[in-house]
Amino acid sequence: MSPSDRHQSIAQDRQQREAFWMPFTANRQFKDDPRLLVAAEGVHYTTADGRQILDGQAGLWCVNAGHGRRRIVEAVQRQLSELDFAPTFNMGHPLPFELANRLVEITPGDLNYAFFTNSGSESVDTALKIAIGYHRARGEGSRQRLIGREKGYHGVNFGGASVGGIVGNRKQFGTLLPGVDHLPHTLNITANAFTRGLPAEGGAELAEALERLVGLHDASTIAAVIVEPVAGSAGVVLPPKGYLKRLREICDRHGILLIFDEVITGFGRLGTPFAADYFDVLPDIMTTAKGLTNGNIPMGAVFVRPHIYEAFMQGPEQFIELAHGYTYSGHPVAAAAALATLDIYAEEGLLTRGAALAPHLEEAVHGLRDLPNVIDVRNIGLVAGIELAPRPGEPGKRGFEIHRRCFEQGALVRYTGDIIALSPPLIINPTQIGELIDIVAEAIRETA
Ligand SMILES: Cc1ncc(COP(=O)(O)O)c(C=O)c1O
Repeated sequence: MSPSDRHQSIAQDRQQREAFWMPFTANRQFKDDPRLLVAAEGVHYTTADGRQILDGQAGLWCVNAGHGRRRIVEAVQRQLSELDFAPTFNMGHPLPFELANRLVEITPGDLNYAFFTNSGSESVDTALKIAIGYHRARGEGSRQRLIGREKGYHGVNFGGASVGGIVGNRKQFGTLLPGVDHLPHTLNITANAFTRGLPAEGGAELAEALERLVGLHDASTIAAVIVEPVAGSAGVVLPPKGYLKRLREICDRHGILLIFDEVITGFGRLGTPFAADYFDVLPDIMTTAKGLTNGNIPMGAVFVRPHIYEAFMQGPEQFIELAHGYTYSGHPVAAAAALATLDIYAEEGLLTRGAALAPHLEEAVHGLRDLPNVIDVRNIGLVAGIELAPRPGEPGKRGFEIHRRCFEQGALVRYTGDIIALSPPLIINPTQIGELIDIVAEAIRETA
């Protein structure tokens, strides 16, 4: 059987779809009514039945340079045949060194050290462990508490799920990590519905909630605060103006580390290389993944500033300074994919291209505000969220129906509950943005 015959048999035979336990998916519903993608090029997918689908979500917030990039394909092929794998535990090969050097040229401020992982979830758990280890290395071992935020998404490992604030992602898994607290989320539809860009009001006051948590737990017990500068998975939640700056100030006042989870916002999504650039706020630690390799090979990276790295680089030189790492940290093939991705970003100016496209997306997406059931439209850079009133008694159903209709009509859009999130590849053009929004508009009308 050829690969394409095998694909067809999976597309046509329900039984062939049984064994794969799909992540974050209503398995039975999907397996009865699958939506299968078999190829991709540029800003389009091809479905198993040969239709072209405009990719409105950059794969899953990751294919920032678009699909089918030959340069990455060739770099991966070359690397696989030259050095398929080599360990990085007390051994090395040049690629992760080269990649770290390249990356710290573009990371904000002095986020000058890179620790490699294989995913966003691993980046987050790595960052949380580094934060706790940092304080311990400096003789402040009582600082173990971690603070996340309601509606936050930091992946699915135990640390990330614990600081995360999406109830549905937590409640199946017991008590999670002890010693975690959460800031309030920053979504206020009543006050800010249909705001273009960042909400103007309330930022400093919302950040002051951190002072309350410091008052409750005492700064001497708190290691770090982790936030997504823009929360993607909860349905595009934006920080009001001044919010992140105030968080930074409060962290500084109390010796608490600030971690930005830039797994979605990193690598050009907001029209700047990183969200820290956009907001002009420098975290102590920054987590990334996704766009690092254009989503082509799993890889993540955690960046830290010199004070963090140096706190560990003490004691006898033969000692391992951080008892943490993955078999595939700095994997040569992933690193080759990342290096090729960085070349593309640089040559095509993609890390700032979103700034030029953002006004087109803003204009188009806010044109949806008067459609039936639309209760909010939010946007920043090349990200937009359209929130719909839920069907009575059936939360999430309308979001799914719109996603489904869009797919039938030729666009892939992400839904979380009744929120549609758009995050197209950074190579999209204004005409294609218009096509995407037209398909979403039609789907919203049809499901009214
Ligand atoms: C902000 C953020 N952190 C972490 C993750 C987890 O990344 P991964 O799915 O690669 O583990 C995601 C994934 O969407 C994310 O959006």
